[in-house]
Formats: sequence, structure tokens, C-alpha cells
Amino acid sequence: MHRVVFNQKGGVGKTSITCNLAAIGASQGLRTLVIDLDVQGNSTHYLVGEVDAEQYPAEAQGVSGLFKQTVGPRKMRQNPDAFVWETPFENLFLLPSSPYLAEIEKELEARYKIYKLRDALAKLKGEYDRIYIDTPPNFNFYSKSALIAADRVLIPFDCDSFARQSLYELMLNIE
Ligand SMILES: Nc1ncnc2c1ncn2[C@@H]1O[C@H](COP(=O)(O)OP(=O)(O)OP(=O)(O)O)[C@@H](O)[C@H]1O
Ligand SMILES: [Mg+2]
Repeated sequence: MHRVVFNQKGGVGKTSITCNLAAIGASQGLRTLVIDLDVQGNSTHYLVGEVDAEQYPAEAQGVSGLFKQTVGPRKMRQNPDAFVWETPFENLFLLPSSPYLAEIEKELEARYKIYKLRDALAKLKGEYDRIYIDTPPNFNFYSKSALIAADRVLIPFDCDSFARQSLYELMLNIE
């Protein structure tokens, strides 16, 4: 089951919900993967703490490495699992964010790579019991990739009038 947690509004609890639902699944013995598609990297920080940029060069690692290889030579491409990190928690794995996501977004968009995350998850089929995808607070290339790749979308939102208005637009975008 692939679930994406999405709302284009910021600060509504996407990251907290992603990490905690994933942690619950992992604690129940389900092999669980969190994919952090937000360049802010909050899920990454939540699960593995501060990342040493020198130890993990941004251009080669995590979810940006996975996307980046789709614009490189086909024979050099690695299995998506090559970009997955272990976390300190049993059964809980992370495809981390990186600052490089922002830099490659335009190129990925221009080269029609919107289905690549879905293809990568298909390659991981059977390796994880649950996959949770954390998204940025934007309707951008990465959140669209996640919505295409997922079976279900969870939408956390504030209970006020403006938030309700933006929910209608959000539902249209998802459709
Ligand atoms: N259920 C909750 N009750 C109270 N506070 C919460 C709850 N969930 C999250 N928060 C708090 O709300 C703030 C924003 O949460 P979070 O970072 O998960 O939101 P987000 O939607 O991922 O934000 P962004 O759009 O910036 O990625 C955090 O300070 C978090 O501790
Ligand atoms: Mg977040």
C-alpha cells in the first residue's frame, strides 16, 4: 500500500503524520519505507537527525539521486533500493530528501519524468509492506509525482474557512 500525505498548505501536519504512521507500522513488524519529497527535509531530519552533507553528497544520494539517474545513461541506473537508508528504528527505512531536489526540478519537469516515482515504486514491489510519502507544501513536480505513484492520499487540514476553501481546489488538483 502506497500512501501519500499531501496538502498544498504548509504546516498542517503532513510530516508529523507521515513519520508517526510509518513508525506505527514499523513497530507492528511491517517493513515500512518513508519517502521524503520535500526539499525542506523535515521527515529526513525527524527519522535520522542532522545529515552531514559531506558524508552524503547531495547530488548522489536519496530521492534526488533516484530522480537524477532518470536523466542519465540507462545502463548506469541502479535499483531504487540503492538510494534507501536504514534508520535507527527497526523495520523503518528512508528515501531521504536532499537540497539538490530544488536544483533538478525544472529539468525533470522539462523531460517528462513525472511517472518515474511510480515506476520506481513498482520496482520495489514486495520489498516493503507500507510506503508513506511526505510532500512539500506546493502542487509541484514532486507532489504530482507522489500523487501519481500512490494508491491513497491522506489530506490533513485546518478546520477554518480559508482552509476549507483551499480544500476544494486541492480536490480538483488531485482529480
Ligand atoms: N496533531 C497535531 N497537533 C498539534 N500540533 C501538531 C500536530 N501535528 C503537527 N503539529 C505541529 O504542527 C507543526 C507543523 O507540523 P508538520 O511539520 O508536520 O507540518 P507540515 O504540513 O509537514 O509542514 P510543511 O508544509 O512545512 O511541510 C509542527 O510544529 C508540529 O509539531
Ligand atoms: Mg512537512
